[in-house]
Amino acid sequence: MSDKKIAFIGTGNMSYAIIGGMVKNGFAAKNIIATNRNQEKLAKVAADFGVQTTADNNAALRDADVIVLSVKPQMMGDLCQSFQDSGVDFSDKLFISVAAGLTVSRLREMLGQDVKMVRCMPNTPSLLGRGVSGLYGADETAEEHEFVQQVFECTGIVVWVEQESQINDIIAVTGSSPAYFFLFMEAIEEKAKALGFSDEDARRLVQQTALGAAEMALSQPDISISQLRANVTSKGGTTHEAVEHLKSQGLVGTVAGAMDACIARAEAMEKEL
Ligand SMILES: NC(=O)c1ccc[n+]([C@@H]2O[C@H](COP(=O)([O-])OP(=O)(O)OC[C@H]3O[C@@H](n4cnc5c(N)ncnc54)[C@H](OP(=O)(O)O)[C@@H]3O)[C@@H](O)[C@H]2O)c1
Repeated sequence: MSDKKIAFIGTGNMSYAIIGGMVKNGFAAKNIIATNRNQEKLAKVAADFGVQTTADNNAALRDADVIVLSVKPQMMGDLCQSFQDSGVDFSDKLFISVAAGLTVSRLREMLGQDVKMVRCMPNTPSLLGRGVSGLYGADETAEEHEFVQQVFECTGIVVWVEQESQINDIIAVTGSSPAYFFLFMEAIEEKAKALGFSDEDARRLVQQTALGAAEMALSQPDISISQLRANVTSKGGTTHEAVEHLKSQGLVGTVAGAMDACIARAEAMEKEL
């Protein structure tokens, strides 16, 4: 593992998940610095993972080679201004931003200089080590690229995109999509209850089926998802009836439209922030 020092500025849910994944995967805790303005959150991350903590963002900025900006997008402007005012020379450090809606050029403007920057779009299953992180790099070295890859692989799988605009596509495909799956699960759960299953059974049935379907897809990577569906859909059978109904009601186009709406919202956020 690299001996680069990495600082997480704003250790909330996402930083906690990444730090936990890093330590479990062999990154040295002594090379990880976590900051927060809340001492309780710092005490927890120190107790759970043995990393260094500080409430002083500027000290973390000074001591680390890689700086993960992990505060809410609306708070990024103040944070970056405080870095500019700190007097710390951060011109050669690598920054990683996990914030949605803030482009590399906007972040550089906030920081007052053209620093090396990687944008990352993780999703919530990263909290369980089952995440997807979309990454876009601007000017990072090959060694830094590899380091970033190793960091985010600690929370699941990673995919690098060539164009920054594709980060918004990643939001539609993986960032927001756990909610699409939850909505589908919710719909099945509601109908199961209407059919007379208890609340507890409806929940157990739907979650186990979702897990089973995902594991079937994962365990058979050579079979397309479309083929997996065809394999459980014999013509004239019950599943076929259900799937044809979903298709005739426009499910596929509805999902595509939802993803377009997601991308449009991400683009609009870039103009607002
Ligand atoms: N959670 C996700 O699934 C997810 C997915 C993709 C991207 N992201 C992005 O990841 C970033 C972090 O999200 P999160 O869910 O981890 O948020 P979070 O739980 O609110 O964590 C951010 C933490 O930073 C602290 N903070 C704010 N300003 C600070 C400052 N100037 N100095 C030190 N600490 C500061 C906040 O403290 P207070 O509580 O006092 O405000 C909070 O504890 C966001 O930009 C979000 O868009 C999150």
